[in-house]
Amino acid sequence: MEVIIKADYDEMSREAAKIVASLVRRKPNCVLGLATGSTPIGLYKELIRMYKEEGLDFSKVITFNLDEYIGLPRTHDQSYHYFMHDNLFNHINLSPQNVHVPDGMAEDPEAHCEWYEEQIDEAGGIDLQVLGIGGDGHIAFNEPGSSLASRTRMKTLTQETINDNSRFFEKIEDVPRYALTMGVGTIMEARICLLLCNGSKKAATIKKAIEGPVTAMVTASVLQTHPRAIFVLDEAAASQLELKDYYKWVYNNKPE
Ligand code: GLP
Repeated sequence: MEVIIKADYDEMSREAAKIVASLVRRKPNCVLGLATGSTPIGLYKELIRMYKEEGLDFSKVITFNLDEYIGLPRTHDQSYHYFMHDNLFNHINLSPQNVHVPDGMAEDPEAHCEWYEEQIDEAGGIDLQVLGIGGDGHIAFNEPGSSLASRTRMKTLTQETINDNSRFFEKIEDVPRYALTMGVGTIMEARICLLLCNGSKKAATIKKAIEGPVTAMVTASVLQTHPRAIFVLDEAAASQLELKDYYKWVYNNKPE
């Protein structure tokens, strides 16, 4: 595990963008796993800037998104399909046929999830998976109690997640109760997992994920067993970490 602590949200976003961009430069046809939520917006803004100002080329990149609400059409402004186009895809040179977001309107969700997993396999697996973390410690929509071996499937959201995400909807009743999500097992197969977390509201959650026991009650904690998990945090999110100074020392003394 590598824990990188940056001063604030902007620095966190720039650091994460550097990691993603260095992969895209090294492997122009890489497979990126992408996340939604407010956390990665700064990372996406920085990638857009790199595309526009530095010519970072996404033309051969393939993307897979983690999850999608069930019952929201692609055109709904709170669908993750819409979010990704609005915050990233419409502003860089990705090929539309290389973009994959689970379809929350799929007639047969189970078959769709199987197909989604097959598409990931056919693309050669995910090189780098961007992750956020929910207030209850979830990654994607793998709520507490999700099997740590789970695959892409339908999940019922917890009340906490519904409450957290209600800020994006007019009223809480509008928040979908179900989602399609990559499983914990699916995410763990990514070659690199890059989790971003900012703000003091999530300090206790990120402490559980990084320094607590590995448990299905905090699905992000399974990243402790991933061979290449990178956490990029801001100071506020890192404030409760016991080994905070050590993580900083390691980062500052990294060999070239
Ligand atoms: C949703 C998404 C997660 C995301 C989480 C946190 O539940 N399914 O992938 O990590 O929200 O969102 P935010 O970054 O807005 O706190």
